[in-house]
Amino acid sequence: MNIPFSTPEEAIAYFGIKADEPDFRRIEDIRSSLRASGRVLSYKDYGAGQPQMKLSAEEMHEGRRVEKDLNEVCGWGMKGAWAAFMYGMTKYYKPAKVLELGTCCGFSSAYMALGNPQSSIVTIEGAPEISAVAAEVHKALGISNIERVVGRFSDVLGDVLSKHGHFDLVFIDGHHAYEPTVNYFRTIKPYAAGAHIIFDDISWSEGMKQAWKEVISDSSVSCHMDMGKAGLLITGCKEG
Ligand SMILES: C[S@@+](CC[C@H](N)C(=O)[O-])C[C@H]1O[C@@H](n2cnc3c(N)ncnc32)[C@H](O)[C@@H]1O
Repeated sequence: MNIPFSTPEEAIAYFGIKADEPDFRRIEDIRSSLRASGRVLSYKDYGAGQPQMKLSAEEMHEGRRVEKDLNEVCGWGMKGAWAAFMYGMTKYYKPAKVLELGTCCGFSSAYMALGNPQSSIVTIEGAPEISAVAAEVHKALGISNIERVVGRFSDVLGDVLSKHGHFDLVFIDGHHAYEPTVNYFRTIKPYAAGAHIIFDDISWSEGMKQAWKEVISDSSVSCHMDMGKAGLLITGCKEG
């Protein structure tokens, strides 16, 4: 099996997704109104910050209290062709179970949920204040196939995996540093045979470039595609 596209635009064409899907407008209208709300969030960030910050494992585990405009936070993550790509991944492949690391304001999970309302989606976010915004977004869209889990990935991932047993599509979109990224892949891999796994920001830092290289050289990875900003791999599928 090969991955028959190398950019989100090619993927969207392959999936037969239209740029003006009514679902996209519904989601983006909610994003626009939250961005214009003037709200400010104060929360603990358990991520890698910016590449130049070079935070230690202890600093990331402890978290940093930050204050951010909701306008900024709602702008993180998948938008435009990438958001349409996430929608297409569930619409086309119809994964029964989807796991997302990094809910943020719930937009990528909304795209995946509306792409296939039959998929059951679990999404994890470390900051309860941000997960609460995602809950508002999902409610406003009438989405009922998303379970939001709040906690550090390292604290809650084990329980999520043993509760659900197997995931068909995994999106790793948070804590963009070398060691955590490789560790999340190793932890998830036994629960993701034959799955599509997407890593966002694979060129974001030297650490992320190294993590992507290491992950795709794992013997469980059958095929992979570096799509630029993000990478897609498939585990345990046969060549040919
Ligand atoms: C890039 S945003 C996710 C964007 C979202 N997937 C989208 O496309 O709409 C990353 C999120 O991961 C969360 N995060 C980062 N490191 C984390 C960690 N170690 N544990 C839990 N959440 C974490 C951040 O708080 C942030 O909301």
